[in-house]
Amino acid sequence: MKVLIVGSGGREHAITTSVAKSPKVDKIYCAPGNAGIGQIAECVDIGAMEFDKLVDFAKEKEIDLTVIGMDDPLVGGVVDKFEEAGLRVFGPRKNAAILEGSKAFSKDLMKKYNIPTAGYENFDSPEEAMKYLETAKMPIVLKADGLALGKGVLICQTREEAMEGVKTLMLDKKFGEAGNTIVIEEFMTGKEVSVLSFVDGKTIKIMTSAQDHKRAKDGDQGLNTGGMGTFSPSPFYTDDVDEFCKKYIYQASVDAMAAEGRPFTGIIFFGLMLTEDGPKVLEYNARFGDPEAQVVLPRMKNDIIDVFEACIDGKLDEIDLEFEDNAAVCVVLASDGYPVSYEKGFEIKGLEQFDGKDGYYVFHAGTKLDDGKIVTNGGRVLGVTAKGDTLKEARANAYEATKLIDFDNKYMRTDIGKEL
Ligand code: AMP
Ligand code: GLY
Repeated sequence: MKVLIVGSGGREHAITTSVAKSPKVDKIYCAPGNAGIGQIAECVDIGAMEFDKLVDFAKEKEIDLTVIGMDDPLVGGVVDKFEEAGLRVFGPRKNAAILEGSKAFSKDLMKKYNIPTAGYENFDSPEEAMKYLETAKMPIVLKADGLALGKGVLICQTREEAMEGVKTLMLDKKFGEAGNTIVIEEFMTGKEVSVLSFVDGKTIKIMTSAQDHKRAKDGDQGLNTGGMGTFSPSPFYTDDVDEFCKKYIYQASVDAMAAEGRPFTGIIFFGLMLTEDGPKVLEYNARFGDPEAQVVLPRMKNDIIDVFEACIDGKLDEIDLEFEDNAAVCVVLASDGYPVSYEKGFEIKGLEQFDGKDGYYVFHAGTKLDDGKIVTNGGRVLGVTAKGDTLKEARANAYEATKLIDFDNKYMRTDIGKEL
């Protein structure tokens, strides 16, 4: 079969790598892709938001299955466009992708269906938001309602900071329309865990757990980023936590979406915080995590095409998801200065040393081909993933592997998975 993957980051490289393993697949296209994806798929110069062009391409090439990796096109309704054209596509429709696209929607959904999450209020007036903050308990969390590249969340220690935050989001519109509505929510503490799942509208199958490191610097210091590294499984995701989430969170979320007339098909990513009062949902995403996918997918034993098709056909109950009994760690190699400002265009050396190296992966995030050379083309450049029997071993392997790659301004955290 012929598969089209939409997106251009490390997540899409991880998805493409899994798809390429399937004996059912003869040809993979990726729009727009990157230099690493280009080694296993044919990259097509169509942007992820160019829906009509994507649909025309899929028709022209007689694509059997399209997989949408990124949040923006999902929230924008790309799946509906493909379905209207009679094409098979993996991902939630627009009315279900709202689970990620609107934090106000997802908070209201959780409240209505008693899914554990932080207490909150939604505001579309800055004056009302500020009035609420006058007597609210600090610290407090402000969230832009819409998509903001994971950066629309402000943790405010003081009332002054929170008032300033309302101004940033709602009046200065730092994240544009995404800040027209904001969620103000209770500050929680605890370990964070990412749990990805496949969903077919009614059945949900949970993947192995993972944990991201969102801050730019060691010791969780510095600015929030798209993610500087991940490990899987999370030792904090115990059987008790799993049991609680199965009882109160996972199926409840899928049932809630179905009950609202918004059946969800695709990936639900649960961002959980393990608080003293039990696990609570921090956020939902409607796609694989990035870089969570880079540690979860290499450990998955199933043919990913079977799972995608079961989701589309509403037959996920027939699939047994299986993961290797090992661990994986992904260390992101970034450009120094990310997430604020950084240079691009430096040649990346050493990549060939990973060819045929079992248990190791280099997922490209921000790279491109320039005159036959692979050069840096983004803040997050590569994700170096290694497996090991234990997390400790996987971590040692991943850091050893980062030494094989060199480019100017290479920057990484040195403590991914360190506390384990
Ligand atoms: P989100 O995009 O909603 O996952 O938020 C980004 C990050 O902000 C999370 O990974 C948490 O580290 C932090 N965060 C979000 N909501 C809360 C909260 N209610 N309490 C504490 N930290 C939070
Ligand atoms: N790693 C967090 C995310 O994909 O949103």
